[in-house]
Amino acid sequence: MCGIIGYIGNKNVSEVLFHGLYSLEYRGYDSAGMAISDGKDLKITKCVGRVSNLEDKYKKDNNKGFFGIAHTRWATNGGASLENAHPHSVGKVTLVHNGIIENADNIKLSLIDKGYSFSSETDSEVIAAFLDNELKNNNILNSIQVMRKELKGSYALGIIIEGEECIYAVRKDSPLLIGVNRNEFFLASDIAAILKYTNKYFLLDEGETAVLERNDYKVYRDEKIIHKDIITTDSKSQSLDKFDYEHFMLKEIMEEPIVLKNLIDSYKNGDNIKYYDISNYEEVHIVACGSAMYAGLIGQALIEEEANIKVNVYAASEYRYKKKIFNLKTLVILVSQSGETADTIAAMREVKEMNIPTLGIINNPNSTMARECDYVILINAGVEVAVATTKAYINQVCVLALIAYTTSLKKGLSNDVSISEFESIPNLLHDVLNNTFIYEEIAKDLYEHNNCFFIGRGIDYAICMEGSLKLKEVSYIHSEAYQAGELKHGTISLIEKGIPVIAVMSDRFLKDKTLSNLKETLARGAYGIVITTSELDDFKDFRKVTLPSVNSFCQSLLIVPTLQLISYYVSLYRGCDIDKPKNLAKSVTVE
Ligand code: AGP
Repeated sequence: MCGIIGYIGNKNVSEVLFHGLYSLEYRGYDSAGMAISDGKDLKITKCVGRVSNLEDKYKKDNNKGFFGIAHTRWATNGGASLENAHPHSVGKVTLVHNGIIENADNIKLSLIDKGYSFSSETDSEVIAAFLDNELKNNNILNSIQVMRKELKGSYALGIIIEGEECIYAVRKDSPLLIGVNRNEFFLASDIAAILKYTNKYFLLDEGETAVLERNDYKVYRDEKIIHKDIITTDSKSQSLDKFDYEHFMLKEIMEEPIVLKNLIDSYKNGDNIKYYDISNYEEVHIVACGSAMYAGLIGQALIEEEANIKVNVYAASEYRYKKKIFNLKTLVILVSQSGETADTIAAMREVKEMNIPTLGIINNPNSTMARECDYVILINAGVEVAVATTKAYINQVCVLALIAYTTSLKKGLSNDVSISEFESIPNLLHDVLNNTFIYEEIAKDLYEHNNCFFIGRGIDYAICMEGSLKLKEVSYIHSEAYQAGELKHGTISLIEKGIPVIAVMSDRFLKDKTLSNLKETLARGAYGIVITTSELDDFKDFRKVTLPSVNSFCQSLLIVPTLQLISYYVSLYRGCDIDKPKNLAKSVTVE
């Protein structure tokens, strides 16, 4: 949810910190700040808004130093303001924080009784005051131990103590890694922030405290120094370049044919193949958030339809609190691009405690979920910089479609379907995506509206859910995805003259039903847009997208990208901030 970067070494500290902040801005961009120290003086610079605002401001202060911490914020406790921007400094303690402290209010009151006053609304400032108070009777390591016992909630912290030439790092639930190089050390929320400098790192685990000094680092657990294995990642410096694309979102949509091809090739090579066969299970729970959950809805339709296994899809934020009913042959599939979504992690841990097998469909190989799920299928979509997910979503759908395909083959239910059906998709999608004129024209029909409906039945409804979310996320149009047959049971009252209704019709058995529902809206003045396949296209007077007809396992892989592109162009025409939509963050690591 927020991004943390820290550095100690001989490089220009501000350069390292700014590079990290720009790499982490996808995690939140309401405000930013940094603290740099030369061991004696610590200088804090903060801004509201983007990291670029901080860079402008920093030049004016122009301070020196050899270690520092920095932060880019997604507001949780307290709005986007200078007072709430990190780092927060109380007494001897200066820190940056990613996470939410659930009992911060009570701790704050007790600290106020001890004479502390607060200039921000944040829980992070409370942590700084808590540690400062503990330091009156304890050294920092013991104070951190006390903090671990008292604080409830999640945190990743970079901490500088007045008079000490080192950075302390601790975490609970929120991600934090330590990058290592000769005589220089980093802390970061995500490996992408430091890959320019090192590909050697370790993940800080809960209960551990890292101390980064000028020429050495130590990691403590219960006040004892422990060893941490260094991981060397083979990911090249994750390309954070848009090349000649105007936006990362467009670049990442256009990458979908290649990331799909890589995934299908890895499946054919047998990578993790045993995890694609779920024929031994009688029931599947798919648990995720947002777009990942909507990928799950497509997975549900395909696994039930083609592999004859019962599937329920749950929002992780609900699932983690609901009564769970499992039978002995239940598999829980958790879908997450970041592998750091707080609600999905919590659901995973709860299910694991109940000894139910967990399969993670994950993009980030260095994430908490990639480490903790019993089985993992990496979707290898590469780094997504745009906050709105596109290529990762499509690979999530492809993995779920391959699970349905593999399982149905194993159960002898789809013998006539070959993997070549999947292999044909990347080239077909490449051609579909290059027809941008069609999507630009539809976007011109949409961008001046403030309300919009998507309707579909069965798997087409699942597709509508993601299409609608994409449009909302990047264009701020209030869009609603509706089961086509449900619209007339009340919500049709919202249909008025000119309102766009996008009908997805790819299922030959349900097409005529959905068309009837579309006509019910047209009869009330709606403006219909049809997304369909060449097999079903007998639509004369509609603005439409006609896609190649492919096997039911793969059809959604051609439909969703067109809805992503339409959303992209609508956002472009509305002048929205496409790669960093307002109020959003790429990885929701808080509840
Ligand atoms: C961003 O476009 C998505 N719409 C967002 O809903 C995302 O899918 C959700 O936050 C889950 O993230 P994850 O896949 O990293 O767990």
